[in-house]
This record gives sequence, C-alpha cells and structure tokens, in this order.
Amino acid sequence: MRGVLVLGIETSCDDTGVGLVEDGRVRVNLVASQTLLHAEYGGVVPELASREHTTVLDRLVERVLSESGIRPHDLGLVAATRGPGLVGPLLVGLGYAKGLAWSLGKPFLGVHHLEGHLHGALADAPDLDPPFLVLIASGGHTHLYRVPAWGRYELLGATRDDAAGEAFDKVARTLGLGYPGGPEIERLAAAGDPHAVPFTVPMRGRAGYDFSFSGLKTAAVRFKEEGYAPADIAAGFQRVAVAALAGTLERAARATGLRRVVVAGGVAANRALRQALAATGLEVHLPPPGLTSDNGAMIALAAERRWRREGRPDPLSIPAEPHWPLGEAG
Ligand code: KG4
Ligand code: ZN
Repeated sequence: MRGVLVLGIETSCDDTGVGLVEDGRVRVNLVASQTLLHAEYGGVVPELASREHTTVLDRLVERVLSESGIRPHDLGLVAATRGPGLVGPLLVGLGYAKGLAWSLGKPFLGVHHLEGHLHGALADAPDLDPPFLVLIASGGHTHLYRVPAWGRYELLGATRDDAAGEAFDKVARTLGLGYPGGPEIERLAAAGDPHAVPFTVPMRGRAGYDFSFSGLKTAAVRFKEEGYAPADIAAGFQRVAVAALAGTLERAARATGLRRVVVAGGVAANRALRQALAATGLEVHLPPPGLTSDNGAMIALAAERRWRREGRPDPLSIPAEPHWPLGEAG
C-alpha cells in the first residue's frame, strides 16, 4: 500500500525522535536530544530519560504534524519502537503511540529498534529486498547479520566486549574529549597521523566474524601514558576500528557471496568508515545524514515497509521488549 502517512516514534534510550514518512520518503524528522541532561552523570539515567520523554513527546509530535501541514486524522499508521532498549523510555513512546492510534482509529505497529536502523540505511533504496548483509554499529550494538528474507536475521558475528560506538566514546573520554565520542574522535583524527601509533587491528586473522574493541581502549590509555599525541592516538584508533569493521564485512561478503551490504547505526556516520566501505567495491547502503543516530523516521520507514508487505496491525496489547534479539523480531 503506497501513499500512507506513517508517524514513527523512537524513545528506546535518551533521544526522543518523531518522524513522518510518506511513500518511502522522509517528510519531517525531529529529535530532541537528552545528552546534556545526562552528561553530569556520565551515562544515561533511565528514570530521568523516561520523565524527559514524557515531557517532550507530545509537543514534538505536534511540531512534526504542524511542520508537515497535516492533521492527526490524515495519518494512516502510527508506529513506535517496541524494543530493545530501556524499559521505562520504551513504555513512554509505545504507550503514547498506542493511545494515539486508538484515539484516531488508525493501525498501530511496534518496531524492533535495529530494524529501524536497517530501514534508515535503506532510505535511498525503498524497494530493495533481501538477500543482503547488515552490519549494525552503534553505541550498544556491533552485530553482523545475513538477511536471506524479510524478518529473517542470521547472526554471523557480534562484539565479544564493547560495541564499536562505545569504543569511540571510551577512547574519546581517555583523550579528554566530549560525548558522544565518535564525532569528536573523527574531528581530532583529521589532524593526526593514522600510522604514528602502533595500534593493531583486533581479531585480524581469526576465523569467524566476531569483533572486539575493549583492547583498543586499553591500548589508547597506554599510548597516552607513553606520550603519544592525542590526534595521532585518535587517528590510529579510528584506522584500526574502521579496518576491523570494513574488513570483517568484506570477508563475510566473500564467504556468503552477498555483495550487497547495509551498514547502520551511529558509527555509520563515520567518514573514514564510509571511505573504507567504498574501497571494498561492495554495493553499500548507508543512512543519509539525520538517519544515522536514533530517530523517529527510521521507525516509520520500517513500519511502512512491514505494512506494505503484511498489511496487518499489531494488537494494542503487545508489550515493550527491553531484551529482544533481532532474530525473533517479526
Ligand atoms: O545509533 P546510535 O545513535 O545510538 C545507539 O547506540 O543506539 O549510536 C551512537 C553511537 C555513539 O557511540 C557515537 O559515539 C557513535 O555512535 N558515533 C560515531 C560517529 N557518530 C556517532 N562513531 C564514529 N564516528 C562518528 N562520526
Ligand atoms: Zn540506535
């Protein structure tokens, strides 16, 4: 079914995202960040996040509707992230979306957060179908899947310790940079020599498709104590983190024969990673600006695709799923 207006709501962590999608195109996509609210605690405080979502969500939905010039009754579908994520924040968005759908008499869909990221990366190719490989690299995930068909996700590999984004954040903290660390590292790395510091690519030469990033954080601490320049540490760390991601993806593509790959999650914003992926010669799909980090439009895009395929709403009784393996998402 085409032409349906889909509202997508994302509240799985510390960003309130509301997006409006029509016919596979993003019309409006607004995110209210809570980064400053949590900064003084050194991490996301779930109760504070829930309260902030509750405070801003209704106003954000109103802004998205008014900026796109549509009335609530024009909506064809209301979707929200169902999991995985923090249970309190998830319940805020999910409950709001269910209430809105019910009051408007419109269908409701609960979306897997990682399916949201996947569809954000497919925004440039709304009619693309599996099979393909998907790498999700965010602050909480570094997961590589083979997707033979919609709704089927075979995990090929995952991080054994820290997620890729988490490693960027931790190395940034070691170098005294701000949060989130990814963009800060990327900026500092531009002024450094990627080969000045003897970082080694984690897991290189190992069988399988797992990742490991915690050793890079420890190495960065040591190199800093040894007096290497922060810009060189940032550049060296970025070089090997990117090599691990792109190299593993390239090996998986060769082994599975799947030349089409989708890379999603906050780390997909990284330009060094984008360059390394382009150099592989694979058909790479990446999220456009504004769709890499958590946002509502990616949830709406995922919902629209499922609605087009299945045309069946979720019952309003579905619960939030704070721990929800992607392989079990529908
Ligand atoms: O997907 P995301 O917005 O949130 C979730 O974790 O779900 O990902 C955030 C992560 C953070 O760890 C952040 O440092 C990282 O993505 N990130 C980047 C860049 N921009 C954001 N990492 C490397 N380079 C970037 N340019
Ligand atoms: Zn995310």
